[in-house]
Formats: sequence, C-alpha cells, structure tokens
Amino acid sequence: MLILGFESSCDETGVALYDPARGLLAHALHSQVAMHRDYGGVVPELASRDHIRRTVPLLRKVLEESGHSLDEVGAIAYTQGPGLAGALLVGAAFAEALATSLGVPTVPVHHLEGHLLSPLLSARPPRFPFVALLVSGGHTQLMRVAGVGDYELLGETLDDAAGEAFDKTAKLLGLGYPGGPALAALAERGTAGAVKLPRPMLNSGDLMFSFSGLKTAVLTQVRERSLSEQERADVARGFQDAIVEVLVKKSLQAVKDCGLKQLVVAGGVGANRELRRQLDARAARRGIAVYYPELEFCTDNGAMIALAGALRLAAGAVPKTAGGFAVRPRW
Ligand code: KG4
Ligand code: ZN
Repeated sequence: MLILGFESSCDETGVALYDPARGLLAHALHSQVAMHRDYGGVVPELASRDHIRRTVPLLRKVLEESGHSLDEVGAIAYTQGPGLAGALLVGAAFAEALATSLGVPTVPVHHLEGHLLSPLLSARPPRFPFVALLVSGGHTQLMRVAGVGDYELLGETLDDAAGEAFDKTAKLLGLGYPGGPALAALAERGTAGAVKLPRPMLNSGDLMFSFSGLKTAVLTQVRERSLSEQERADVARGFQDAIVEVLVKKSLQAVKDCGLKQLVVAGGVGANRELRRQLDARAARRGIAVYYPELEFCTDNGAMIALAGALRLAAGAVPKTAGGFAVRPRW
C-alpha cells in the first residue's frame, strides 16, 4: 500500500510517494523563497495561492517519476499543523478531497513529527530510542524519541526559535531573506573570537534555550556605528558561534542525561555547517553518533510527511475516514 504525502505549512509545497516496503519512491518540492524575497519574509496570502498553483503539477511529477498511479495509493498523509492557517488549508483540503475521490483514508500529521522522523529516510538511519534536536524557524526543542508517537519534551526555547534568531539577526545585518543561510555564509568569512557575544543560558543547568537576548546583543553592535564588511562578517561569526555552542552543549547534555548514544538533528537549522562541524567533533569524543537528514530533507518537504504517515499507520494509528477536517495552525 503506497502512501502519498503533502506538505504546505509555510513556504514550501512538497509532495511525496512512500512505500513502507521499499522506502521513498519519489518526491517533488517547490520553494517559494524567490517569491517572498522582495517582502523580506513569508507573505501568508501569497503562500496559500502559490500552494494552490503548485500542488497538482508536483503530484503529477511524483506519479510520473515513480511510475505509479493514484489507484495504488492506499492512504494520504498531510501536514495538519502547526503553520500558516491558509497554507495548511490548501494542503489539507486537497489531500482530503483526493482521499474522498479515491476512497482512501487520510493521516493528518504534525509537521514537527515529520522533521523528527526525517533522518529515518536516510540510508544509515538511527534506531529508537534517540535524542532529537529540532531546530527550525518556529521551534527549538530537545526530545527523547522512544518510538513512533512516543516523544518526551526535554527542553525548548523560552522565546525565539534558533532559526528565527538567525533570520532576525540576518535582517539586522542587512542580509536578505531567508536569513539563516545568508548569515551562515557571511559568518564563514568572519574571524573567530573577534566579536564575542553572550551564550544565553549556557550554564542554566537545564535544557532550556533563550535566543532573543543574542539578537539584542547584535542590535547593540549594529547600532553603535556603521560596520565595515569584515566587521559585519565578524558579528555574523560571533552570533553563529554563540548559538552553535549553546545548541551543541545542551544537545550532548540531553543525550547524556537520557543515557543514550544517538543524537538526531532535524529542521532547517540542521543544515548549518558550523553546527554540524561542532556537533560531530564533540560528539565523537563522547562516543555519540549524530544523525542528520539528507540536506534536501532538512528543510520542509513532503517526504517526511509521507514517512511520518506511513510510520503512524504501521504503529497502529487509526486513519481518518469520514467527516470534515480541520487544520491546527498553533498545534
Ligand atoms: O525547518 P524549516 O525549513 O522550516 C520551519 O521553520 O519549519 O526551517 C527554516 C529555518 C529558517 O529560519 C532558516 O533561516 C533556517 O531554518 N536555516 C538555517 C540554515 N538553513 C536554513 N539556519 C542557519 N544556517 C543554515 N545553513
Ligand atoms: Zn519545518
């Protein structure tokens, strides 16, 4: 039985076809980044309209590439939340309508569960139980993952998410949208230690995070005087080093506290090279294995939603068969 997955929670339209026996058969993605760039961020109404435009062509592409037809689809998974209400509604309405016409059930999926399970798409997947660091534009969480649907929140951010901090700081430095990758690129040219920024809650003794103060520290630097190109790079480097140090220390602490040996990193910030470098180096010294989703599955995509739907069904989740549907923007 094949599972079709749809992702439309923010600015990426993702469609994928997953076979529980053979793995991912095909997936297609359209990023709206270029469309939102002029506005410096995601415009919800434009995002919804673009999801409407992209969904059917992406579905066609996935079916063509996989060589399968809709008749073989046994269930449809889609992102129910959290995310932008209008954007979620496009995916949910499309998935529910298609499921009704095919006479198959649906599996509404939590977007973060998709991110959490995305490393299982890789050729060398982790095994349960593991600790997951979820670092995206909307969330920063450490979770103990014992199995599908068995998640324990160990710690999270008190204010900004890590990706949000990257994006906001990038804006302060005059970088375009999306800020995270732009700031990371600028930081590569900065000198380590030239600008020392605070490490919020580094020694708080718990697994909580706080990143809004870091952004304010950068604001202070930027306000004082106009920065040269090298100074901007140094600030970017200082910011990235601070955020990475906190993420690395708390993630390894969480793995130790849980008595485990595996750490999974998921979400858009997981694409950050410095984070990967530091984590790999420090985890290796402690005998901890770190798993990352393939880069294309780090940011939002349909494959992780199809996978999460398939795993939920395999774990005994009851698929949804009747009635209306709802999205959960603040889930
Ligand atoms: O998981 P994601 O695609 O979307 C959700 O928020 O669910 O994550 C997007 C976030 C954005 O804040 C983006 O700036 C950040 O991930 N990001 C990065 C990098 N690539 C993406 N942050 C730091 N370094 C990167 N290389
Ligand atoms: Zn996401």
